[in-house]
Amino acid sequence: MMQPIHGGNVYKVAREQRIPVGRILDFSASINPLGPPATGLRAISSALKQIVHYPDPDCWQLKQELAQQCAVDPEMILVGNGSTELIHLLPRALRITSALVMGPTFEEYAHALTEAGSSVQYAHATHAAQFRPPLKETLRQLSGKRSRFDAVFLCNPNNPTGQVLNRLAVRELAEAAERRQSWLIVDEAFIDYCPTQSVLPMLREYPHMIVLRSLTKFYAMPGLRIGYLVGASKAVERVRDRQPPWSVNSLAQEIFCAVLRDRAYATKSRAYMKSERSRFMRGLRSLAGLRVYSSAANFVLLELPVTTTAAEVTDRLAVERILVRDCSTMPGLTSQMIRVAVKTEKDNRRLLAFLSSCLRKP
Ligand SMILES: Cc1ncc(COP(=O)(O)O)c(C=O)c1O
Repeated sequence: MMQPIHGGNVYKVAREQRIPVGRILDFSASINPLGPPATGLRAISSALKQIVHYPDPDCWQLKQELAQQCAVDPEMILVGNGSTELIHLLPRALRITSALVMGPTFEEYAHALTEAGSSVQYAHATHAAQFRPPLKETLRQLSGKRSRFDAVFLCNPNNPTGQVLNRLAVRELAEAAERRQSWLIVDEAFIDYCPTQSVLPMLREYPHMIVLRSLTKFYAMPGLRIGYLVGASKAVERVRDRQPPWSVNSLAQEIFCAVLRDRAYATKSRAYMKSERSRFMRGLRSLAGLRVYSSAANFVLLELPVTTTAAEVTDRLAVERILVRDCSTMPGLTSQMIRVAVKTEKDNRRLLAFLSSCLRKP
């Protein structure tokens, strides 16, 4: 089975071009442009003392912090080595044999499902509807007489379209899933940029709903790997039973405990993203022939003119040591689609300049 290709592989490009990783401008992974919070960096030296011990297999302290932030009991939380680990544990733990995925979306759901032997069907958002989340189509497929899905996967806000399904609509989905005793997995990896849309407060009403969260992007430490899931304690226990021991290292546990308490960083990050995203999008919209989709997250989906392709533009930008995410192989998207992260104003200006020259000389 082929592994999906994700953004952020700066190492491969650095090897190929024989340059240090630091010279690459990476727009292909959607990481907070403010960089890791100073509170996290300061926690590293005290966390280092712990590496002579095995990590806490229960992630007890981190779970206390998360439980407080999410306003749930700690037993409703399972911490993983990045949310990717949890995505891969879910299909077997919850005995998912048929799943409906709301696409086009993060390819790791389909990969994990297929790898665990589950069938995967898509309800795709359409180009004609500006990739608005396909609520109606999902409900239609979910209520089909001849189909039965053990689980529905929703990424909210969705990677790579940037679209968000509002709480009322997710409630409709949760009602439908609950009636059929199907799991509803809501991946909120990018919810920190629109926290009012989180469905965490609805968890107690829907025992089949599971919320996935990632800490790696918002806190700009994807190299450290922490994600978590929140759901009914019985479901959480089933996933936990499948998790290898000590999969979350002690450095990550301690550093993320520190950054979660740093509310000032969270507020500053949201404010920065709001203003820089709209400034960057204005710049992108001024480029002739480029279609720019709205976004509730820290990345933007772009549609190139038909005179060029995502592969061509990606290659040309790579020569300039700029990485963007070619989305053309994602089920439900076309060969014109790329995704770019919103970075700092200076970096974004650089991308705008190179993108503009790529579009002028197809
Ligand atoms: C929607 C979504 N969910 C989950 C992940 C995995 O994140 P991590 O394993 O770093 O927590 C990603 C990574 O790109 C993602 O885009």
